[in-house]
Amino acid sequence: MERVCVYPGSFDPVTVGHVDIIRRARHLFDRVVVAVLHNPAKTGCFPVAQRLDMLKCACQGMDGVSVAAFDGLLVDFAHQEGACAVVRGIRAAGDYEAEKTMADINARLMPELETVFLPARPEHACVSSSAVRELAAFGGDFAFMVPEGCAEQVARRFAK
Ligand code: COA
Repeated sequence: MERVCVYPGSFDPVTVGHVDIIRRARHLFDRVVVAVLHNPAKTGCFPVAQRLDMLKCACQGMDGVSVAAFDGLLVDFAHQEGACAVVRGIRAAGDYEAEKTMADINARLMPELETVFLPARPEHACVSSSAVRELAAFGGDFAFMVPEGCAEQVARRFAK
């Protein structure tokens, strides 16, 4: 049986840390569906269509990886995709608390859906979508944090 996982996030924008998690998830699962979902705690910066565009560019040539957007609960999307697991990256202890709560809620809603945590690589400890946005907004170098081919789109968004 094909084993499918969903890798959800805001991806506002996608970073090299996200791409590393996608690659590693693909080693564990037959198919990875990267899903742009809405995090009610965050006000979006990039339109969803542009986030998808950058994700598609970042995942180009990755066999068994697809990209989608979904407006609703993660468990509903996972059910729709026939996924057996949700993958999330954890950078530091602080991430774990919030992620554990989310995993517990999702487990209540859909007990058969496992959450798999992958530790972020140490070299990605300082990488985040919010850091990319902040550096881009103030003219700092953010290119090392985003996948090749995405820097131009990010720069354009913040061009005066
Ligand atoms: N390396 C470096 N940074 C990483 C990383 C890695 N491997 N993996 C994640 N990050 C960073 C991101 O850059 C981002 O940083 P920022 O917050 O400073 O911008 C942060 O970790 C997490 O962002 P991201 O992974 O893009 O998504 P998210 O945490 O905003 O996603 C959802 C949350 C969308 C999955 C969640 O809100 C959701 O499931 N929404 C749907 C509604 C739902 O089902 N809710 C039920 C649960 S209550």
